[in-house]
Amino acid sequence: MMKLKDKKILIIIGGGIAAYKSLDLIRLLKKENNEIRTILTKSGKEFVTPLSVTTLAKSKTFESIFDANNEAEIDHISLSRWADIIVVMPTTANFMTKLRLGKAEDLATTVILASNKDVLLVPAMNVRMWMHKATQKNVEILKDYGYLFIGPEKGEMACGEYGEGKMSSPNQIYKFLKNYFDKRNLFKKKKFKAVVTTGPTREYIDPVRYISNESSGKQGYEIALALSKLGVKTTLISGPSNINYQKNFKLIKVISAEEMFNAVKKSLPVDVAICAAAVSDFKPIKKNKNKIKKNYNKFKTIELEKNKDILEFLGKNNRFRPKLVVGFSAETDQINKNSNLKLRKKNCDLIIANDISKKDSGFNSDYNRVSIIDNIGKVKVIKKNKKSFIANKITEFILNKLLIEEKNLN
Ligand SMILES: Cc1cc2nc3c(=O)[nH]c(=O)nc-3n(C[C@H](O)[C@H](O)[C@H](O)COP(=O)(O)O)c2cc1C
Repeated sequence: MMKLKDKKILIIIGGGIAAYKSLDLIRLLKKENNEIRTILTKSGKEFVTPLSVTTLAKSKTFESIFDANNEAEIDHISLSRWADIIVVMPTTANFMTKLRLGKAEDLATTVILASNKDVLLVPAMNVRMWMHKATQKNVEILKDYGYLFIGPEKGEMACGEYGEGKMSSPNQIYKFLKNYFDKRNLFKKKKFKAVVTTGPTREYIDPVRYISNESSGKQGYEIALALSKLGVKTTLISGPSNINYQKNFKLIKVISAEEMFNAVKKSLPVDVAICAAAVSDFKPIKKNKNKIKKNYNKFKTIELEKNKDILEFLGKNNRFRPKLVVGFSAETDQINKNSNLKLRKKNCDLIIANDISKKDSGFNSDYNRVSIIDNIGKVKVIKKNKKSFIANKITEFILNKLLIEEKNLN
């Protein structure tokens, strides 16, 4: 197995019986020249000693946020900036609740809340604790917040019971971390560039009235976030939305379909274009300069004309066609058939078919259910889940396809 080396890994040790296994992970990582820093929670200290952790990590174990010596050396902000990734092992049920609530009540929770890095949670607990609705709700919400998870596994527990709740082994965590860094290095080395469109567009009739749709922009935003986290240089072109954007990527805000079209054109060339925006197909031929009054008798119909088709422009672009052109199709019926037609008409490589017939997902929802359809008609179904989860799955699929396309081209 190739090595995982020269990384900076912050390990937070929580108050569970599996805490002793963190010593094994530290040993494995130190063998490969990784730099390790550690935080022991108050309860974690009941299970392993700072002396063992410090000796194996070859660096001081941090314990308290109010330790004057700690803060002089390294504060909670720089500790989180220093790390390439943060690993919490074991992640106890209690610790997950604190993360869900956004607590900053000790050094561990404050560092995580202040972190701009990925945080890998490694849960370990009794099977009943794990299966409890409260814990499962925590997991769902923490996944949506962007926390990464490994395990728990099924097995015999320290308490003698059997079931899901056993912590992943240090070897499994090591492999996860290796895969995590390998993937990022690969995409960074490739210097992939992506443009993503999202949100609705507004086509103004007069200064205050417009034609638009229900799109929230969340799905495209989550995809841009997932791409940039994997090291892809990403530009997100977003129509009007209420999203509080994180600045992990270049963001261009637009209003109308025409502005979106121009922004996409300017962003070329890219390796992959993902068109998740619900672009208005039509716009009023004429926008009234002043607000149209109620008693405006002449105004009987609004004449519309077609907007330029961004997806088709990209798919049929001879000069700057991205290696992969990915469209979204929001359908209420005959989803696969209609999406396939769209794929052919616009010469895309992939279509993400979005089932908007159900009220519990799609437009204006945190959830989505999609099928990824390729140009030979193969369909991969992703069941209803949070848009952040769906975005990770779509992104993974697209980047793997991009790697295959590259191989075929070379
Ligand atoms: C012997 C013993 C073993 C425990 N093991 C676990 C465990 O495996 N998982 C867990 O979620 N909580 C476990 N707990 C409960 C936690 O220690 C407790 O909730 C603690 O507050 C968690 O601290 P933390 O939030 O710093 O991780 C255990 C408690 C005791 C006394």
